[in-house]
Amino acid sequence: MKITLTHAASFIPAGSLNELAAKTAQCNALLENGQGAGNDFLGWVHLPSSITPEFLDEVQASADALRQRCEVVVVAGIGGSYLGARAVNEALGSSFDAFRAKDRKNPYVVYAGNNIGEDYLADLMEFLADKQFGIINISKSGTTTETALAFRLLKTMLEKQVGKAEAKNRIVAVTDRAKGALRSLATQEGYKTFVIPDNVGGRFSVLTPVGLLAIAVAGFDIRALVKGAQDMEQQTADNVPYEQNPACQYAAMRNALYQYGKKIEILVNYNPRLHYFSEWWKQLYGESEGKQHKGIFPASVDFTTDLHSMGQWIQDGERSIFETVISIKQANREVRVPMDEENLDGLNFLAGKRVDEVNKMAELGTRLAHIDGGVPNILIEFDKIDEYNIGQFIYFFERGCGISGYMLGVNPFDQPGVEAYKKNMFALLDKPGYEKESAAIKARLG
Ligand code: PA5
Repeated sequence: MKITLTHAASFIPAGSLNELAAKTAQCNALLENGQGAGNDFLGWVHLPSSITPEFLDEVQASADALRQRCEVVVVAGIGGSYLGARAVNEALGSSFDAFRAKDRKNPYVVYAGNNIGEDYLADLMEFLADKQFGIINISKSGTTTETALAFRLLKTMLEKQVGKAEAKNRIVAVTDRAKGALRSLATQEGYKTFVIPDNVGGRFSVLTPVGLLAIAVAGFDIRALVKGAQDMEQQTADNVPYEQNPACQYAAMRNALYQYGKKIEILVNYNPRLHYFSEWWKQLYGESEGKQHKGIFPASVDFTTDLHSMGQWIQDGERSIFETVISIKQANREVRVPMDEENLDGLNFLAGKRVDEVNKMAELGTRLAHIDGGVPNILIEFDKIDEYNIGQFIYFFERGCGISGYMLGVNPFDQPGVEAYKKNMFALLDKPGYEKESAAIKARLG
């Protein structure tokens, strides 16, 4: 991978990056020496290099057991308990996977427990009604309402469909080693389980079984993914100087831009398969940095699609934004524009070119236009979308996030703000234990 800061540096005063660049070294060292805030959640820092081949074999064996039995596997989880797996699976899979029922080699992976939409759940259960399906239920706390609710519905349905004994072969739980309702339920029912390490928070957990199992079920190479992350762990370590350390460079530049009024970072991709990567990235940075009334707001767009909806704002709206562009050097598939004798659509100037070449010119043209329009631009280039590069991509952004959060002066590894809505929801639903809150919120609502 390569990071280019030239077209972001031109938007901040000369020399202003130097102090921040120096600060990245201190903040990166805090991730290594564990002396920063949230240091009980630093398990992700050396996670890639601590993954053993034996452990990957165990994950693969569990995935293979599900692959043999199931044509569909439902991944039930929310936030950090599903976004990583979905990001990787959608980046690597065919955009039309859902419609390839006949010639599929891999189970179709679908997602639940990440919303409370009744229509969504009804649609899902209708879809599963005539399918051989299994469930990976993922929840670190083991008590998350969205996930637990979906799991109760799906477990009930599966047991009716195939019987309790066979359902047991098709359910895997990924949760805390000891606590939470999911742990006790899984023990009671005798499900295969994987542990989410205590010191790895949800949004940093894609390289644990939280992500790896569902990725292996979908047929992707988890060894290559982990290898990419391991290599990036080395490239971003605290002994790698700023000039060679892409995570430090990224963290320094986004904090510099923030100091000069750029409060919104827009992650840009030019490949629709990366849509969920942006969703994963938004959670990673949003939940890590949005604290104490501080933090860059992470937004995302899929270009060129969103150039026809958000392009005007980005080109011409308030100058409080910067873009971080994920540029993929080479498409995986090849499609060329055909020649048409009649040329009624006027497209013969593109005949013979790869579609990716057209996309690349749209990318370059847009970058230049946005820079001219006053939008600082960080460019991050990857060779291609494959397991190895995605492994690099994941760890690069995780490391950049840890450094950046410390530079901002927050604890990047907690998420106290997420509790507020839950407290109100439980009070409104009369959950036992919330009687006082329930009375207060009902009085407030009249
Ligand atoms: O990053 C986080 O910690 C959160 O997004 C959690 O992953 C999310 O809230 C789901 O929590 P749990 O895994 O406990 O169900």
